Amino acid sequence: MHVNLADKRVLITGGAGLIGSAIAMRLVGMKADVTVVDALLPQHGGNRRNLQDVADHIKMIVADLRDPAGVDGLVDGVDVVFNLAGQSSHLDSMTDPLADLDINSRAQVGILEALRRASPLAKVIFASTRQVYGRPRYLPVDEAHPVHPVDVNGINKLSGEWFHRLYHEVYGLQTSVLRLTNTYGPGMRIVDARQTFLGVWILHLLRGEPFEIWGGAQLRDFNYVEDVADAFLAAAVSDKADGRVFNLGSREVVSLRQVGEMLVDLNGGGRFEIRDFPEERRRIDIGDCHCDFAAIETTLGWQPRMSLRNGLQRTLEYYRHNMGHYA
Ligand SMILES: NC(=O)c1ccc[n+]([C@@H]2O[C@H](COP(=O)([O-])OP(=O)(O)OC[C@H]3O[C@@H](n4cnc5c(N)ncnc54)[C@H](O)[C@@H]3O)[C@@H](O)[C@H]2O)c1
Repeated sequence: MHVNLADKRVLITGGAGLIGSAIAMRLVGMKADVTVVDALLPQHGGNRRNLQDVADHIKMIVADLRDPAGVDGLVDGVDVVFNLAGQSSHLDSMTDPLADLDINSRAQVGILEALRRASPLAKVIFASTRQVYGRPRYLPVDEAHPVHPVDVNGINKLSGEWFHRLYHEVYGLQTSVLRLTNTYGPGMRIVDARQTFLGVWILHLLRGEPFEIWGGAQLRDFNYVEDVADAFLAAAVSDKADGRVFNLGSREVVSLRQVGEMLVDLNGGGRFEIRDFPEERRRIDIGDCHCDFAAIETTLGWQPRMSLRNGLQRTLEYYRHNMGHYA
């Protein structure tokens, strides 16, 4: 799909993170006028390194969107907002539920209110999660699947979604919601398993240490970060996305053990240990999950292009050369 946002004023919240930074690089390539806002909080995935190739071509604002002062003036005159600032650790949402509520729900109202007042014609694409479905009742999970979050993060992301939908329905803001599955790639947090287990697996693998797989039989689908950036861009340029909620996903469904084996193979060595789930994680685990993305495919023409094997290969290669900036 050809996307052109040349000269458009674009704001990326959470733009120093994995996905936001990938979108920023694509936008700079098409000569959009890009502002990134990110709090760069240490427990999240934001990292200045992610933006180093485009640092001279974007405006970077370090601000916390939970603070109304952080939102003031940010959205004036914007054409497009990629709204990705969020807390995505499921476990952290249980140990600090109010922090999760603040960024994933409360702050979203602040952003939408500011948009309603200052830029009511803006396109807004919100990053939600397949976690809103909870433990799947059938697979693959489509958008008609009932929502039943099993952790605080799922509830707050769902509320963030609904604020976006409401502001479309009541005020006409051109919002859309993407429900992301496991997203990975160069730029993700790897120091711990807060955001994605893949990050910490790669860290251990590259250090020559065994990594732990909890359970191992769970089925998952994965999206490479560039594919996810494509989906955000596709939603930003189509009126058909307005007011809609779309799953992302992949037809390549694998068990966690298979992913571990693939990583070891790509690395040319290494090993993992299968462990029982830590109790606090087992309570909020969703079991097998993979998503049906037919709606976005038929509506916007999006589908993932990167195979898991090639995506993991690129990711390993990236961290082999950039480990010091992330660990
Ligand atoms: N990566 C995934 O697998 C995945 C899956 C489902 C949903 N998502 C959602 O997609 C979005 C982006 O995810 P990501 O993987 O790029 O995560 P990330 O942690 O790499 O990026 C999120 C960014 O948001 C910033 N941020 C957090 N709170 C903020 C605040 N109060 N003010 C300003 N900035 C703040 C962080 O500093 C970070 O840079 C998140 O909203 C996440 O919930 C991601």
